Amino acid sequence: MKVLVVGNGGREHALAWKLLQSKQIEQVVCVPGNGGTAIMERCQNLPLAVDNFEGMSQYALKHGITLVIVGPEVPLAKGITDYLQSKGLMVFGPTRAGAQIEASKAWAKALMQEARIPTAKAAVFTEAAAAKSYVKAQGAPIVVKADGLAAGKGVTVAETLEQAEMAIDAIFQGQFGSAGNFVVIEECLVGQEVSVLALTDGLTIRPLLPAQDHKRIGEGDTGENTGGMGAYAPAPIATPELMARIQTEVLEKTIASLRSKNIDYRGVLYAGLMVAPDGDFKVLEFNCRFGDPETQVILPLLATPLEELILACVQQRLGELPPIAWHRGAAATVVAASGGYPGEYEKGQVMTGIPEAEAAGAVVFHAGTKLNQQQLVTDGGRVLNVTGIGENFEQAIAQAYAGIKSIHFPGMYYRRDIGYRVLS
Ligand code: AMP
Ligand code: GLY
Repeated sequence: MKVLVVGNGGREHALAWKLLQSKQIEQVVCVPGNGGTAIMERCQNLPLAVDNFEGMSQYALKHGITLVIVGPEVPLAKGITDYLQSKGLMVFGPTRAGAQIEASKAWAKALMQEARIPTAKAAVFTEAAAAKSYVKAQGAPIVVKADGLAAGKGVTVAETLEQAEMAIDAIFQGQFGSAGNFVVIEECLVGQEVSVLALTDGLTIRPLLPAQDHKRIGEGDTGENTGGMGAYAPAPIATPELMARIQTEVLEKTIASLRSKNIDYRGVLYAGLMVAPDGDFKVLEFNCRFGDPETQVILPLLATPLEELILACVQQRLGELPPIAWHRGAAATVVAASGGYPGEYEKGQVMTGIPEAEAAGAVVFHAGTKLNQQQLVTDGGRVLNVTGIGENFEQAIAQAYAGIKSIHFPGMYYRRDIGYRVLS
C-alpha cells in the first residue's frame, strides 16, 4: 500500500516513520515533507503546498496512492477531505464541516454546551464594546480567544482587565484576519492540561494514550507560548478512572453530537483538557487532527499497526477491531528550537550530530529541517524532536537528553526540564 501524508512537521515525520514499520506499507509520500522524510527509506517528498488539493489528487491517482493522511488543521478546514473524497480517494481526517470543531471556537463551544460536555463558561461577541462590558462584569483573570485558526496565537490568558481589553481590540482590529470575526470570552481555569487524542470512524471512538506537552518557551513553564517545546506519554494525571469519564462525558458525546448534525467525522478528535486540583476536568479546546508534538511520543508506544487503525476509521469498522495494543513504558520528546523562537530566528543553519544521537538510542523526528544540496539545514522555529523511549519516564527522558547533547547547530535552544512533573 502507498500512503500520502500531508504536512511538513515532526508530527508528519512520526506518522511516516510509524507507517513504514509495517511491511504492508510500500511507500510513503510526504507533501511537502521535510529533511527527515526526504532521507528515510521508502519515503519521499512531493514539493506541493498543503492546499494544492488538485495537485495532490492528480499525483495520488496517477501513482496508485491508496490512502491520504492529513496532518495539519489548515487543509482540513479548507476542505481537503471533501475534495479528495470527490476524486475517489480514501482520506483520514474530517471534512470541512467536521473541522469546524477546531476552526471555529464559537462553533465548538456551542456544540459542547448543547451536548452538555464539561467546559469553561463562555460567551461569544461580534463587537468590542459588548465584549469589554462582559469582561468588566466577569473580572480578571479571564481568557480571550479569536474564533478561528490563528496558529496557536489567538488565545490570551489575561491576568488584568487591561490585558483582556487589549486582546479584544487586537482581535477586532484584524490582527488574526477573519479568524477574529468573533471573540470567545471564557472563564479562566486552573490545573494541569492533558491532551487526549482519539481515533474515530464517526460511530466508534477510541482514545490513544494520554499525553502532556510543554507549551511555554522557558523552563518551569514560563515565558511565551510556543507550538510545544516537549511532550511525554502516557500522562499519569489521566488515570484510568479519568479516561473512562473522558470517554463517556466527552468523546462519545462529541461524536453523537457531530452525527446529529449529519457530520460523518473520520479521523482524530483531539480533546485538550484542564484537570483541576480536585481531579475534575473541563474541555479547553478540540483539535481535528493529531497533536504536535504529542504524536511524536504516542506513536512510538503504539503496538497495533497504525495503518490498520487508520483504515478501520476511514472504512467505518473501528468497532470490529480488537482493543488498541500498546508497548509498556514511556516516551518523551525534547524540541531543539532555533535561537529566537517563538520570535524571529534564522534559517539555513547546518546541523551535526543526528547520527550520534540515534546511535545513543534516541529517535530524531525532524520538524523544521530541509535537505540543501545533500546537507541537512534548519528550516523552521522548532527544528528537531529528539525522542527517548524507555521502560519508565526516567529512562525515556534520559535517552532524549543523551541524544540531544550530541546535536549542534548555531543558536540551538532547548528546555532542560521536559517532563519535570513526572520525574520524582
Ligand atoms: P486553546 O487553543 O483554546 O487550547 O488555547 C491555547 C492555550 O490557552 C491552552 O492550551 C491553555 O494553555 C490556554 N487556555 C485556553 N483556554 C483556557 C481557559 N479557559 N483557562 C485557562 N487557560 C486556557
Ligand atoms: N500540541 C498542541 C497542538 O498540537 O495543538
